[in-house]
Amino acid sequence: MKWVATFVLSMMSSLALAAGGPSYPLESIETDYNDTASLQRGMATYKHYCMGCHSLEYQRYERTARDLGIDPDVMVEAIVPSGKKIGDLGTIAMPSEGAAAWFGAPPPDLTLVARKRSPDWVYTYMKTFYVDPSRPLGVNNKVFAKVGMPHVLEPLQGVQRTVCKEAPIRVDGQVQTDPISGQPMTENQCGILEVVEGTGQLTEAEYDQLIYDLVNFLEYVGEPSKAQSHDIGIYVLLFLLVFFVFAYLLKREYWKDVH
Ligand code: HEC
Repeated sequence: MKWVATFVLSMMSSLALAAGGPSYPLESIETDYNDTASLQRGMATYKHYCMGCHSLEYQRYERTARDLGIDPDVMVEAIVPSGKKIGDLGTIAMPSEGAAAWFGAPPPDLTLVARKRSPDWVYTYMKTFYVDPSRPLGVNNKVFAKVGMPHVLEPLQGVQRTVCKEAPIRVDGQVQTDPISGQPMTENQCGILEVVEGTGQLTEAEYDQLIYDLVNFLEYVGEPSKAQSHDIGIYVLLFLLVFFVFAYLLKREYWKDVH
């Protein structure tokens, strides 16, 4: 019977492998379309650190400027690449075949990435690059295993490594507490992310804010009319309310003599 158990166990472990094992818990954020300052900062970060490789092909600079309250002249000066016009789409010059050969995979267009993956995923992705000498670019990622993108924000975040240390025990993302003392239970765990002190230009809180703004911007770009649809929705409801009053009065008028 021993072979049956071995067989079942090996089937289970290969199933677990196929499913990618337990997935890394995503950090959750609340994006905000109305925080124009955050969206503007996110756009600036995108321009400096991402646009070299990733296009925003479905969005025109003009639209972004209008939605984010940016003067068109400032937009042209600060964001629109030279040789392009404000009415152009956010295409980039990098040829995708060449890029695929350099990185192993072409950098995808990011207009819809926050909708495809979710803002939480993109946020966690940008925070979980870590040093991995076995990878061609020397880095790996917790939510995107064997990623082909370099950690372009490493000078800001600092060099992040995985270490083994005492850390709170989590089940489904929830920290487990000792039922008697009420203290969080910890155990020695490996694979914990830690930034090497003094290697990044930003503090952890500043880096989190930078990534939040960036993801907020990407979420906006994925659905630029969401803020407007919200406003229109409110007008539609108000209209229906007013319409209902008149419809009701009219109904009363018609049925007055029927009884
Ligand atoms: C040097 C080129 C380069 C730069 C700069 C760059 N990336 Fe990437 N990025 C890539 C490549 C290549 C991939 C594809 C990785 C793969 O498929 O393994 C990628 C993938 C991604 C993905 C995953 C997309 C998906 O759904 O699969 C996201 C999100 C992303 N990049 C965000 C960013 C952001 C945000 C910035 C700016 C802070 C940025 N990237 C800067 C090259 C780059």
